[in-house]
Amino acid sequence: MLNRTMVTTLERFILDQEESYPEGSGELTNLLYDIALGAKLIASQIRRAGLVNLVGAAGAVNVQGEEQQKLDVFANETLKHALNHTGRVCTMASEEDEEIIPIPDGYAAGKYVVAFDPLDGSSNIDVNAAVGTIFAILRRVTTSGQGTLDDVLQPGTSLVAAGYVIYGSSVMMVYSTGHGVHGFTLDPTIGEFLLSHENITTPATGKYYSVNESNFGRWSRGVQRAVRGFHGDDPGRMKGKNSRYIGSLVADFHRNLIAGGVFLYPADSKNPEGKLRLLYECMPMAFLAEAAGGKATDGRRRILDIAPESLHQRTPLVIGGAGDVDYVGTVIAEAEAAG
Ligand code: F6P
Repeated sequence: MLNRTMVTTLERFILDQEESYPEGSGELTNLLYDIALGAKLIASQIRRAGLVNLVGAAGAVNVQGEEQQKLDVFANETLKHALNHTGRVCTMASEEDEEIIPIPDGYAAGKYVVAFDPLDGSSNIDVNAAVGTIFAILRRVTTSGQGTLDDVLQPGTSLVAAGYVIYGSSVMMVYSTGHGVHGFTLDPTIGEFLLSHENITTPATGKYYSVNESNFGRWSRGVQRAVRGFHGDDPGRMKGKNSRYIGSLVADFHRNLIAGGVFLYPADSKNPEGKLRLLYECMPMAFLAEAAGGKATDGRRRILDIAPESLHQRTPLVIGGAGDVDYVGTVIAEAEAAG
């Protein structure tokens, strides 16, 4: 039972944190709160999805060629509307939109850029599995007016904040501004996110590995060897792990972040650049992983160092405990050196 006289709301926590940065204007605090509001609206709709007949395809196909679910459309519109009129954002980018999203006429453009995946893992909705919203916040590089593509296409090292909301057995928002990773659980009875996981750190070597092993035959030899290592085939260097894979990045990442583990979505012969998107999925998760003491690479390079060249660029991803991610990198490098 929560002691309601002692709770810390998301708003209170980010305001308190901001007080330790006197140069802060409060805009980032408000922006995070705008995202939390959008997430609460999405959460309430997801909870009622089966009841109000919102589940199912909306009929359209998104820019990735995937069938859009009705809730994808709802989540995308909700986040845009939560952010576009506040004067805090100069442009947005969404996994569901081909181009950057301008601020509507008549509204001021602010200093931040938000890139988001409004409803990641949405194919899981029909089967009642956890899905999530992922967001990345950058400071604009242009100086005024509407934001441009240059404002969005910045490497992860320029991120100001990132986070996700997981719509699972409970709804949680996890975010970082680079100073620790903090988790808040939505108390539906009062409609507030309450601090439940302060300063999350992730074990260097975890007990889980998460990967879609049906792609095994399409991976490079190095990736195959690393995953065999996680099976327990390389006992001198890696202890065998348990396999856990939902197929919903937010849910897989969240479990590994808290319980310890490594998630891989490597390149394969069908997806030579991997499947996941750099801007909306890999960069924000990499920012969180590093802030929690973990690592994220594409198997070779640090994800946060990759400068995006296009909005919907994909990248292979290895993310989780530092020791586990390093192991994958070492095994891939050895396999490449052996030719
Ligand atoms: O990018 C969407 C997504 O659903 C991620 O959330 C998830 O990690 C991945 O795709 C699952 O892909 P697959 O079905 O190929 O394992």
